[in-house]
Amino acid sequence: MANFIDDIPEARRETLVARTEPSVAKSSSSLVPWLLLITSVLGLAGLGIFWWLKPSPPLANAPADSATADVPPPVNPGATETTGAAIASESATIAAASPTDTPANSEPDTPNSLLGHRPYPLADASGLVTISTNAMVRLKPEVAQKVETMMTQARAAGIRLDVISGFRSLEDQEYLFFELKAERGQTTETRAEVSAPPGYSEHHTGYAVDFIDGAQPAADLNASFENTQAFGWLKENAAYYGFEMSFPKGNDQNVAYEPWHWRYVGNQESLELFYQD
Ligand code: DAL
Ligand code: ZN
Repeated sequence: MANFIDDIPEARRETLVARTEPSVAKSSSSLVPWLLLITSVLGLAGLGIFWWLKPSPPLANAPADSATADVPPPVNPGATETTGAAIASESATIAAASPTDTPANSEPDTPNSLLGHRPYPLADASGLVTISTNAMVRLKPEVAQKVETMMTQARAAGIRLDVISGFRSLEDQEYLFFELKAERGQTTETRAEVSAPPGYSEHHTGYAVDFIDGAQPAADLNASFENTQAFGWLKENAAYYGFEMSFPKGNDQNVAYEPWHWRYVGNQESLELFYQD
């Protein structure tokens, strides 16, 4: 009866033996001389015990991993599992934390304002344009174009609608708030009723304008502007051009009534600027 090992060419026996579990090796026996059999069994058993006690993975696993690829098997296969477990664990932690620990929920529920004025980003001055009637007035191009049309339409009706102020820098607003406050001996609260602190003026955005009536200069930047023809025209027509009065009587910012100060809310950017919470 042919031996299990003898059926295999000699050159391949070592490989097979090395890959074979000790229990398989122990089953070989019969048709060889007893001495050779005992020696072989003892030798194979010893070899099997050696591989069994080895700390690294048994050789029997190696071909399955390395035969399918040119890359060596991982030096420490457990590392991959550990990394995977760590990621899974971290994901679980994040998932568990997310519903109750989002930034939105942790934000304080307080209004973002100073003395009733909201903060505004400074427009990029290089993107602003002047208007035809006053080279000192700079606005966002879309706003300037609307203002030009409004002035043309108002003049067609015999009304001298014009603009005296548009974009303001931080320095402009510092002068208007701090220097005029000191010049006039006003309290901070009193000054804030008519002027925004630097960084908090709608004029920083390039979307706000101060209108005047060229026929009544005495009404410039004061409440009597509401009695001018220019104001009458604005009340009737400004909304058609995307404008609204920023500080009507009794506004919730407690800013004094400013019938001359209007803001453009005719595009997404301006809407989000002026209607932010
Ligand atoms: N006069 C308005 C409030 C401003 O200074 O922006
Ligand atoms: Zn203004």
